[in-house]
Amino acid sequence: MKIAVIGTGYVGLVTGVVLADLGNDVICVDNDPVKLDKLRRGIPTIFEPGLEELMKRGLQGGFLRFEDSIVNAVRESDVIFIAVGTPPNADGTSDLRAVKIVASEIAKGIDSYKVVVNKSTVPVGSGDLVRDIIISHGVSEDLVDVVSNPEFLREGSAIYDTQHPDRIVIGTKRREAAIKLVEIYAPLERPMLITDIASAELIKYGANSFLAMKISFINAISRICEAAGADVADVAKGMGADTRIGSQFLQAGLGYGGSCFPKDVMALIRISEGLGYDFQLLNDVVAINDDQTLHFLRRLEAKLDGFDGKLIALLGLAFKPNTDDIRDAKSLQIIEYIVSKGGSVRGFDPVAGELVKEVHPELELAPSAYSVGDGADALILVTEWNEFRQLDLERLGEKMKRKLMFDGRRAYSKAAAQRAGFEYYTVGSN
Ligand code: UDX
Repeated sequence: MKIAVIGTGYVGLVTGVVLADLGNDVICVDNDPVKLDKLRRGIPTIFEPGLEELMKRGLQGGFLRFEDSIVNAVRESDVIFIAVGTPPNADGTSDLRAVKIVASEIAKGIDSYKVVVNKSTVPVGSGDLVRDIIISHGVSEDLVDVVSNPEFLREGSAIYDTQHPDRIVIGTKRREAAIKLVEIYAPLERPMLITDIASAELIKYGANSFLAMKISFINAISRICEAAGADVADVAKGMGADTRIGSQFLQAGLGYGGSCFPKDVMALIRISEGLGYDFQLLNDVVAINDDQTLHFLRRLEAKLDGFDGKLIALLGLAFKPNTDDIRDAKSLQIIEYIVSKGGSVRGFDPVAGELVKEVHPELELAPSAYSVGDGADALILVTEWNEFRQLDLERLGEKMKRKLMFDGRRAYSKAAAQRAGFEYYTVGSN
């Protein structure tokens, strides 16, 4: 199949590369010349395990190209995926400017029947919006079908998730369009669900908001555990063993961050409002998430008698392991809080350090995990990178002023930390 993917962010680049690897002819389009130059040379613009190898394979095999003209790419393709960003507006609604511009450009390239696929996370009704924009440019109605095909990949395992999705959702009005998508995804041999467009759009928001709710739920339980002398890990294990609940996304910690959950939960709140329903439960999901890190910081603040004049070491800065993404990363909230209270911060992250420093120049970067604690009054484990799990804790604390550890992701055992001489505190247990 001849495919165009518009936008080479996380979703677009990974989708394009994986579809090329299945033997499709894929043109990835972006309007950023710097990005294009790198991509054409096989250099990924995001950090994602397995991406570089697959990209190189696609480029060398001639299945993958990077271009800057949407119109040309559309002319050459049967199916066009829109995978541009839909960042949040100040009020939490999605900013659809990029989608609208791309839809107008796509219209200019349509000279035969095309299927246009919304892969970006877009509000209910966006499928019709894209179709209306295309038709408003004079494209005949029978030359275009719009499909909603939401993406469920997680950063850090984006390639794997795209190749092994739990389900593939195809929302469309027309059988012909659904068949094209079924053909594209058939080699993955995964379950496919064909729905109307609005349902497909809502599946994405429903799934992400539900997962965010699971995280906030277990984080709320973690607060009760701290007060009751219980252990949230055991509670989560016991709850998750019920197959109706499931064990995933019950890891208590500092709360969720990243490019999807914070944005999608807020967007669903606004979508619901717009449709006349007050989704109060989701407001609480957000409130619990915001308070989770603050509560953790207040506990540390109390132990230190205030942050004023204190140096705090941060282990991990990315919003989660295996990514350099720092959007809505908890490290940002932590740095802001400590600095606003007169403290200073030093951090280490395997890949995201420089990116956080760009936003917070006051952050001092340590060259390694073992040096982050030098002279520090406390250490916070912010992101549970695998390489932090087996650190020699004695060495980690060796040069700290006070061996005080606040483990925001429950990555270490209390006994091991205490054996290494740390005062140890974590989320959801005493
Ligand atoms: C998420 C969805 O999982 C994915 O399906 C969707 O397409 C995009 O949004 P992503 O944001 O990449 O993916 O990461 P994910 O692994 O889901 O983690 C999101 C956040 O939740 C992270 O900050 C993570 O630390 C946190 N989290 C996750 C928890 O705090 N506890 C958990 O049990 C799971």
